[in-house]
Amino acid sequence: MSIKDKFYFFKLNKKIRSIKPKKKGTPVSKWPESWKRIYFKSYPRFPKLYLDKSILNNNESSLIDTILKRKSYQIKKDHIHNLTKDILSNIFLSSAIINVGKDIKYDSRRAYPSGGSRYPLELYIIIFKTETLKKGLYHYNVKLNALEYMWEINKKEVYSVFKQDFSVKCSGVIIITSIINRSSVKYGERAYTFSHIEAGHIGQNIYLLSESIGLKCRPLGLFDNKKLLGILDIHNNEELIVYPIVIS
Ligand SMILES: Cc1cc2nc3c(=O)[nH]c(=O)nc-3n(C[C@H](O)[C@H](O)[C@H](O)COP(=O)(O)O)c2cc1C
Repeated sequence: MSIKDKFYFFKLNKKIRSIKPKKKGTPVSKWPESWKRIYFKSYPRFPKLYLDKSILNNNESSLIDTILKRKSYQIKKDHIHNLTKDILSNIFLSSAIINVGKDIKYDSRRAYPSGGSRYPLELYIIIFKTETLKKGLYHYNVKLNALEYMWEINKKEVYSVFKQDFSVKCSGVIIITSIINRSSVKYGERAYTFSHIEAGHIGQNIYLLSESIGLKCRPLGLFDNKKLLGILDIHNNEELIVYPIVIS
């Protein structure tokens, strides 16, 4: 990463760090209108081609069905399932599994698109609820399609990162990070945007897969960046935290 890029990412990360979750957020009753209202753009002066919603009622595609059902669930006690090897295989298969062509180094594809096939994203999972596996932090090794057990994780530490009860009262937390240099060597500052776009693709795969196998998920947008970097033992001049998602 060039010095210019490093400086840029450092600046962005400082901004992210400054939006930490608070112990007690603003109560909904005190939210301003601009936090609640959903806005829509419209061109009154242009003619409209109204699309047909009824096709959604008699479609035969289970994909459309799954897309329509997808939602961010309020994670409740009875949603906390034991994570098993089967469930994890499904999650990581849908989010990042590698599809090898002639040469794994130059010709392999994944379940999501990546700008210039640079694949800067890495996946981790903190497993809280399981009977058959070891609880703690794992890294997903894409090449081997294997979860690498890293270490135990203290729930209090995780709570202090997200300050939301469901972040520890859940089956696990998936954390998408980016080794930004893989992409910035080619795309410079644009790599930052690309990583977020790519994480969104993985996120949607996780949502749809979860919906189809009966898991619930919910993203965690606000987090203490420094503390989470510490839990993963990564450094944000190399690897940035992009997108944590709770599954249950
Ligand atoms: C980037 C991002 C960050 C989010 N962060 C949080 C969060 O910190 N806590 C939370 O409860 N929900 C979070 N959500 C979930 C949104 O509140 C949810 O997507 C929105 O209310 C729309 O609901 P739906 O996903 O069920 O359609 C986040 C969603 C996204 C995409």
